Amino acid sequence: MEKLEQLYEGKAKKVFKTADPDVLIVSYKDDATAFNGEKKGTIVGKGAINNRMTNHLFKLLEKKGVPTHYIEELNDRETAVKAVKIVPLEVIVRNYSAGSFAKKLRMEEGIKLKTPTLEFSYKDDDLGDPFINGYYALALDLATQDEIDKIASYAFKVNETLINYFDGLGIDLIDFKIEFGRYKGDIILADEISPDTCRLWDKETHEKLDKDRFRRDLGGVEDAYAEVFKRLGIQ
Ligand code: C5P
Repeated sequence: MEKLEQLYEGKAKKVFKTADPDVLIVSYKDDATAFNGEKKGTIVGKGAINNRMTNHLFKLLEKKGVPTHYIEELNDRETAVKAVKIVPLEVIVRNYSAGSFAKKLRMEEGIKLKTPTLEFSYKDDDLGDPFINGYYALALDLATQDEIDKIASYAFKVNETLINYFDGLGIDLIDFKIEFGRYKGDIILADEISPDTCRLWDKETHEKLDKDRFRRDLGGVEDAYAEVFKRLGIQ
């Protein structure tokens, strides 16, 4: 499959057209950003890890009944995906306190929540992706009620599936962000699931194996990504 003109370049990925209007090619970069682009850097090898990890997890999620944009892995960094229109919501699920949740509620990080939470941010870099709820999403015409219901139900299914999966790898899934797209009238999972978009803590040592190592200058960033990838056992 051949890449045609570049459609878009984001912080971590480029997206290209193909000869088929229903198919795009996503190309993962090693570039890392945090705090809405204020902090910039490179995580060597990240592009390939995030590409292959996302594809591995999307195939697992498909088997569990969550439709995704995945079509075919083309090489280490590039994947053919269905040409979705992204719903402009960042969908965040949390199992433990951490990050903005812990800060807002003045909680220590790592406290197990009684139930998982679900929240939305409006995907808008100029506004800094503000926290919104489902009523805002409806009022701003970002999604329909039916779409919001589907997104919430898929998000909890993704959570349940990934908690179990990572548990088997000795990892606690603290929280994560996913995005959905519209494709031929359906809502399907799009974007990525990787150490860039999840908080993953070693079950025994509680060591952070995710992008917080970059965000917080903890060091060992590449090693953490490589450790997660190794545990996935992808050939
Ligand atoms: O910062 P916060 O605690 O709200 O992040 C929650 C989860 O969403 C984390 O796993 C983080 O990696 C992810 N996230 C993301 N992209 C953003 C914001 C958060 O992947 N723009």
